[in-house]
Amino acid sequence: MRQPIVAGNWKMYGDRASSAKLVDAIVAGLDDKTARVQVLVCPPAVLIPHVAAKIRDTEVGLGGQNLSEHDGGAYTGEISGSMLADAGCTYCIVGHSERRAYYGESSALVAAKFDAAQRNGLIPILCVGESLDEREADRTESVIAGQLDAVLAETGVAAFASAVVAYEPVWAIGTGRTAAPEQAQEVHLFIRQRIASSSRSVAEGLRLLYGGSVKPENAEGLFAQDDIDGGLIGGASLKADQFLEVCAACMNVHGASR
Ligand code: 13P
Repeated sequence: MRQPIVAGNWKMYGDRASSAKLVDAIVAGLDDKTARVQVLVCPPAVLIPHVAAKIRDTEVGLGGQNLSEHDGGAYTGEISGSMLADAGCTYCIVGHSERRAYYGESSALVAAKFDAAQRNGLIPILCVGESLDEREADRTESVIAGQLDAVLAETGVAAFASAVVAYEPVWAIGTGRTAAPEQAQEVHLFIRQRIASSSRSVAEGLRLLYGGSVKPENAEGLFAQDDIDGGLIGGASLKADQFLEVCAACMNVHGASR
């Protein structure tokens, strides 16, 4: 059975005051409608201790947005997996398309970060996804296969037993353009089959999240797809009411199943 997840990626937004307000409202709004869903927030690194204090003794989990591939050392400006774990994180996003595009993160580096997260007891949320040009050139599957295979080559398939994969088509991120549920499902199924070709049981248990302009209005249709186990939410995770509605949509669909 796959436990659904809704994770809020706050990106580079917020300060102590606004994040306190946001997280307090999320905690207050979670009820039995969302009980089976693992709800996560991924704040900017400097806000993690502050948010950790706010969610202590609640069901809300905490994730980092990025980590170093190294465990420690002279790497100015970097944050290690052990630091994130020590600050209260249990998850960490790796290979977000914004990191791949703006900070030159290659699939090999992303694979090293995935490994670093697991070495430090964090569950990596591996982001994969194609750009608009790649989709239009009919390269979606080959791009995603390459992104997955780089990690499989580094860690082996067994590592995916304690990982999450998020499909985030680059053209749908922050654009208001969401993949149609069937379009997203097609890629999710491809991802599960790619992992299944190495291990069927790992593939069956792997949680696959969709990300890219998920909103209360479209969440349920996406989450209803067979291979969509939740969402990685950007913009809508910065508004407590919207985020809670997305969590509730996930619970409505996944209720007692999977
Ligand atoms: P939006 O929900 O703002 O499109 O962002 C998606 C995303 O990048 C989550 O990681």
